[in-house]
Amino acid sequence: MITLGIETSCDETALCILETRVENEKIEFRVLGNIVHSQIDLHKEFGGVFPNLAKREHIKNLPILYKKILTDSGVTENQVERIAVTQGPGLEPALWTGITFGQELSKKLDISIIPINHMEGHIVASLVSKISNEFQELKSLEFPSLALLISGGHTEIVRVEGFGKYEIVGSTLDDAVGEAFDKVARMLGLPYPGGPQISKFAEQARNEKLMNSLSLPRPMLKSKDLNFSFSGLKTAVLYTLKKIEKVTDDHKKDISREFEDATTEVLIAKMKSAIDEFQPKSLIIGGGVIANKHIREAFQKLAVEYSLNLFLPIQQLTGDNAIMIALASSISQKLSSLESLKALGNLKLG
Ligand code: KG4
Ligand code: ZN
Repeated sequence: MITLGIETSCDETALCILETRVENEKIEFRVLGNIVHSQIDLHKEFGGVFPNLAKREHIKNLPILYKKILTDSGVTENQVERIAVTQGPGLEPALWTGITFGQELSKKLDISIIPINHMEGHIVASLVSKISNEFQELKSLEFPSLALLISGGHTEIVRVEGFGKYEIVGSTLDDAVGEAFDKVARMLGLPYPGGPQISKFAEQARNEKLMNSLSLPRPMLKSKDLNFSFSGLKTAVLYTLKKIEKVTDDHKKDISREFEDATTEVLIAKMKSAIDEFQPKSLIIGGGVIANKHIREAFQKLAVEYSLNLFLPIQQLTGDNAIMIALASSISQKLSSLESLKALGNLKLG
């Protein structure tokens, strides 16, 4: 089966062409083409993603990238057998562009279109070993599993009883982790997206053994539930900065390290509570924030401590991409009629 994947939920216009072979429970696939076109440079001056600009850029880029992916992969349009498109969650004007493009193509080629939940995509991304045009088997996941999804828009703990069987058991009450990274970076005068910048500074502080001169709160550690809150942490950074007369790079490194430590500790503590409560057989961490080396290492340690199999996406699949969308269509198969396919900005798992 040759699937065209389309992802336009935020500021990446992403397309892929994936060939899958499904036999009983076994899913094999190879990547025939993969494009992730980032709009970051355009959004940087707004300090975040500007939805209508994202929409305009997706509309402009989709037909160009579609032509390119066909050429790159050597697949002809008529060989494409189905389309998988992100339905939500995300920015609705941006989501609509991918959906409309997919719908028109599905009509023209007379093939089906499958709506995909972006967060399910992040779960599936953790099961890919490499991006390759050789067939590989999708890693097999032991259920029940527990997923932590951390991105610019989401922070949630999900019980995964099987593919398509999800229950959100904890989520953020305010900012998402990635959003907190982005906002703190902005306070420190660092460009969008802030995650990579903060983690670079934090790593420098550790390498240079910079004195640790401040302490930030670890919000919600004592709450009995599995929810998160990051807005207080962000405000604590703001007050810390106000007390410093002249903010130097060393201050920024120190704050970045402490902020990264605080978020990591909270994420780990909440996952420990969730593991104790649900006794999963495996752990999945997905979403853009898991590009963060410090957080990755903390989860690797946690998995060893609890003797759990850990599924982390490879670096190229931590951020938004279309491979995860096309792959999700091989496991979820929710067909939609063309007329009922709508963008759902707040689509939830479960
Ligand atoms: O999943 P994603 O690409 O897009 C959404 O669906 O939101 O996640 C983007 C988020 C941004 O907030 C970005 O700052 C964060 O992931 N991020 C990081 C790192 N790389 C990206 N956060 C912390 N450390 C990183 N190295
Ligand atoms: Zn995402």
